[in-house]
Amino acid sequence: MLDKMGRQIEYLRVSVTDRCNLRCVYCMPEGGIEQVTHDEILSFDELYRVIKETTYLGIKKVRITGGEPLVRKGIISFIKKVKEIKGIEEVCLTTNGILLADYMDQLYEAGLDRINISLDTFNCDRYKSITRRDGLDKVLKAIELGVEKGFKRIKVNTVIIKELNYEEIEDFVNLAEEYDIDVRFIELMPIGEAKGYTPTSNDEIKGIIKMHRKLYPVYSKKGSGPAKYYKTNGSKGRIGFISAMSHEFCQECNRIRITPEGFLKLCLHSNKGIDLKELLRNNIDDYELRHIIKDAVENKPDRHHFNENSEDEDNRLMSQIGG
Ligand code: GTP
Ligand code: 5AD
Ligand code: SF4
Repeated sequence: MLDKMGRQIEYLRVSVTDRCNLRCVYCMPEGGIEQVTHDEILSFDELYRVIKETTYLGIKKVRITGGEPLVRKGIISFIKKVKEIKGIEEVCLTTNGILLADYMDQLYEAGLDRINISLDTFNCDRYKSITRRDGLDKVLKAIELGVEKGFKRIKVNTVIIKELNYEEIEDFVNLAEEYDIDVRFIELMPIGEAKGYTPTSNDEIKGIIKMHRKLYPVYSKKGSGPAKYYKTNGSKGRIGFISAMSHEFCQECNRIRITPEGFLKLCLHSNKGIDLKELLRNNIDDYELRHIIKDAVENKPDRHHFNENSEDEDNRLMSQIGG
């Protein structure tokens, strides 16, 4: 599916819940967010229908995200069903890793291809102050098990924030050196709670890494996502940089999103999109649904406007969008 900018849209991110079992300070308020009721979120049958229609438009990769997707009941059978849809080449998961070790075998058997795990610190006390919960040992165990299990790829996502984990940059590099995984530094985007924290630019992070190591760029094929990858001497894995703020990658964007409430979001930062829930619950037929999605995607915003004040800005939190 091509949009009006000529971008090939083949990646659908599906946020299955806005609930989360952590409360990361830059993502959610301490008391959590006002939860939407079960009726207000799309059922797995509704999501399945939408995903299936998008395959006729060229969607090949689906990422299941949240909130924390593993807290939603029935998620394993849903992943299995999505993986069986003709045209879906890869089903991926983004998780905070807390429940991952418990579900690892079932996820693998369901056909899940890739897992991205969020982790911002290796220090137990700091884990508790960032996420307002315990669980670091579970996440570290899940990373190890995931590598052993043989998924196509395990990636670790980390956000470096001046006030929180700045001195751990090299520890994350060590992780990519020790394991054949991708460790990615994601620049903090000013969404919701995150507006109160000081981001670290990826150029600054690279500077710190380069004080003790050389970074060798790794070629990635066009359309393989926003991260730019590097290796260090002898590293088993790769170090990635997702620099949404300092080096915008919107011209290569290949993705659209569905929020838990069934809003088809055309860009992470923009409120432009379609209320799919309303259409689905008013018995829209498949043909019409497909065409409405296609028309909307054609008009996907050309870029995000985080660095400007934009009237299109979406007020949803990251946990409600699905990253
Ligand atoms: P891969 O499919 O493995 O490349 O992962 P991904 O980067 O698409 O997915 P993941 O859920 O791991 O995303 C990591 C983070 O990258 C997200 O939470 C966002 O912070 C950021 N990101 C992903 N896609 C976009 C995007 O389209 N725009 C912006 N600005 N940031 C994005
Ligand atoms: N900016 C960038 N990344 C964020 N995440 C959560 N909030 C933000 C934000 N404001 C990250 C989490 C997780 C990934 C899915 O999104 O840390 O790694
Ligand atoms: Fe949950 Fe992810 Fe938000 Fe942390 S960043 S509270 S793990 S949704």
